Amino acid sequence: MMERDYRVPFPARGSVVGPAELTAVAELVDSDGALSGGRWRAEFEQRFAQHVGCRHALSVTSGTVALELAVHLAGLRPGDEVVTTPQTFAATVQPLLARDVRVRFCDVEPDTLNIDPAAVEAAVTDRTAAVIVVHYGGLPVAMERILAAAHAHGAIVIEDCAHALGAEYHGRRPGALADIGCFSFHSSKNLTTLGEGGMLTFDRDEWYERLDRIRSNKADAVVGPFVSRVPPTPLLPWMRYSEEIYTHEYADVRHPGTNATMSEVAAAAGTVQLARLPEFSARRRHIAARLDDCLARHDGIRLHRPPAGVAHAYHLYTMFVEAGAAAREHLVKTLDQRAVEIQLRYFPQHLTPEWRQRGHRSGECPRAEQLWFEQQVNLPCHPGLTDSQVDYLTGALDEALSDLS
Ligand SMILES: Cc1ncc(COP(=O)(O)O)c(C=O)c1O
Repeated sequence: MMERDYRVPFPARGSVVGPAELTAVAELVDSDGALSGGRWRAEFEQRFAQHVGCRHALSVTSGTVALELAVHLAGLRPGDEVVTTPQTFAATVQPLLARDVRVRFCDVEPDTLNIDPAAVEAAVTDRTAAVIVVHYGGLPVAMERILAAAHAHGAIVIEDCAHALGAEYHGRRPGALADIGCFSFHSSKNLTTLGEGGMLTFDRDEWYERLDRIRSNKADAVVGPFVSRVPPTPLLPWMRYSEEIYTHEYADVRHPGTNATMSEVAAAAGTVQLARLPEFSARRRHIAARLDDCLARHDGIRLHRPPAGVAHAYHLYTMFVEAGAAAREHLVKTLDQRAVEIQLRYFPQHLTPEWRQRGHRSGECPRAEQLWFEQQVNLPCHPGLTDSQVDYLTGALDEALSDLS
């Protein structure tokens, strides 16, 4: 497909990388320190946990890996069920494809595009091992009823926070609202670790130990009883790891390890970006307020607004064209002709070939389907946009929407 030059592009970068990030990276490279797993990683994790408001933050190489590890903690067995939303990127449900579990897609709320708590209450049973929620676009999910229903049945609640950095929920932050949070630092996200990266956030010490083992090329294993073997004399005094191998039996390897450790370069950039997050969030909110003001002048448009006590992170700026598919098509095409890049996020997951193959069908989540096929539109809204690009965007919207009335 031919690349177009958009006057107001959708973000290839969701944050702004500048001299402060470059200085931190240059100092690291100039030093003799390790480039993997050192002081920056520890600092980034500690600051991130503090920011989110939880005991542990464990960095990994992507949001997808974070979700895979979180799903592993649910200990899924054949026949178990996982309750989740169809209105998300494929990575949220991807770890479930390879597991012999039943996925219950719940419909979304029409105003937020978040999973509907009433649908979750109806779907959760004693077979439910996990509920995965997504804070769509950065608007936090109403958590209370979902947590109560899941916990009453012994299921864990995983938050996909890929969009939610910068959001707030009644004085708390996504990533600390349920059992475990999964963040993405992909280039397009509200904070980047120079392209790819992810983080898990949670309170349980036991989980820290298990997840740290997996991401560091060890296994998630239950250490069995002490085996009375005489440890060999270490070849060299520092070869202490051999003691562990020769004196314990790993009775139950639950998950083989992998190397999902974040590099020092990524962590150094991430630490600087985290300090700049208030600046990025303020810019997103400023642009979102300009778009809200513009759209409020037009009939038939519904906004994606947070309720009282909730702060939207505006990873995605979403609007709904209530007049339906033809009106939305006109708007999208007109904006595209005016060199405003539009994207529609996300195609409902239960209708993708991989989930259809597993028996999912249209009609399963009627609201999510109707909104995606007829109403929802995502407009550019990111800190890389200049004031004059925002002026141009609101002007183009005014023109395109006045054609509709
Ligand atoms: C909702 C959601 N979940 C998970 C991911 C996966 O994150 P990553 O690209 O870091 O693997 C993304 C992003 O791309 C996302 O938008």
